[in-house]
Amino acid sequence: MANKNNKSSNKKNLFSMKNKVVIIFGGAGKLGQEFAKTLSHNGAKVYILDIKKGVKNNKNFFFLKCDVQKNKNIETAFKKIIEKEKKIDTVIYNVYSKPKDYYKDFQNYNLNTWKKVIESNLTGAFLVAQKAVKIFIRKKIQGNIIFLSSTYGVVGPDPGIYLGLNSKKNIYGGKFALNTPASYSSTKTGLIGLARYLATNFGKYKIRANVLSPGGVYDNQEKKFVENYKKKVPLNRMANWSDYNGAILFLASDASKYMTGSNLVIDGGWTAW
Ligand SMILES: NC(=O)c1ccc[n+]([C@@H]2O[C@H](COP(=O)([O-])OP(=O)(O)OC[C@H]3O[C@@H](n4cnc5c(N)ncnc54)[C@H](O)[C@@H]3O)[C@@H](O)[C@H]2O)c1
Repeated sequence: MANKNNKSSNKKNLFSMKNKVVIIFGGAGKLGQEFAKTLSHNGAKVYILDIKKGVKNNKNFFFLKCDVQKNKNIETAFKKIIEKEKKIDTVIYNVYSKPKDYYKDFQNYNLNTWKKVIESNLTGAFLVAQKAVKIFIRKKIQGNIIFLSSTYGVVGPDPGIYLGLNSKKNIYGGKFALNTPASYSSTKTGLIGLARYLATNFGKYKIRANVLSPGGVYDNQEKKFVENYKKKVPLNRMANWSDYNGAILFLASDASKYMTGSNLVIDGGWTAW
């Protein structure tokens, strides 16, 4: 059957976020703030939900404290935003947790650390998506869910790039040298599965769910690591914090309105070899 809305459309601003309400869980982090600024510059009202306060409220940004390990916190946050805005258009799940001993080697990894990472990176996304879907269906909103995964949700980490790194030079702290733990790979892969589930089950309500999978961002990491990393990237550099702003705007706006269940990989070519 022909699609009755199959008309040519050249909307002036395909990427406009005007009148859209966006929530970013884990939005006070480094990428989260980039995303918040990009989306608000393009017209969105952005709510930043995080355990740490990294941003000041202004006319475009609103901060709400929320720990995604607490279901009640997530419920309250959604309730407050819906009461004020009457709608939510896009929900971004950007949370990334590095609990104590996060970088410990696989054979000795603590079960507690594993559970904490699963809870924050993946269970939180489930709880957030559950609440978002309920609201979207109840209010007949063609809602949009975006999860932040990683190249390590797509391919396994190359242990070679971490060889010989110095635990004292790990910029993220702790007793262990920089590496990508199994808890990260597993949760980031899980998010891709969760997005596919949401896409196939809730597409009938015109609800969309997609994933953005970035490559590593230069964060002043140990020099040896940065050199090893660059060799794996066809574009021969780590990402800048702003390199994913175009992608988040594409996914959050109507520019991606026919996209669901997909994973947008932006990694300088890391996964192209
Ligand atoms: N930085 C990179 O190189 C990179 C590469 C690939 C993917 N990513 C992904 O991008 C996302 C953002 O990364 P980032 O580098 O900006 O990280 P970040 O650590 O700066 O931001 C993560 C945010 O999550 C928040 N958070 C942690 N636990 C929470 C909880 N229980 N409840 C609420 N908020 C919580 C933190 O406070 C922080 O603000 C992550 O999902 C990460 O996996 C990052």
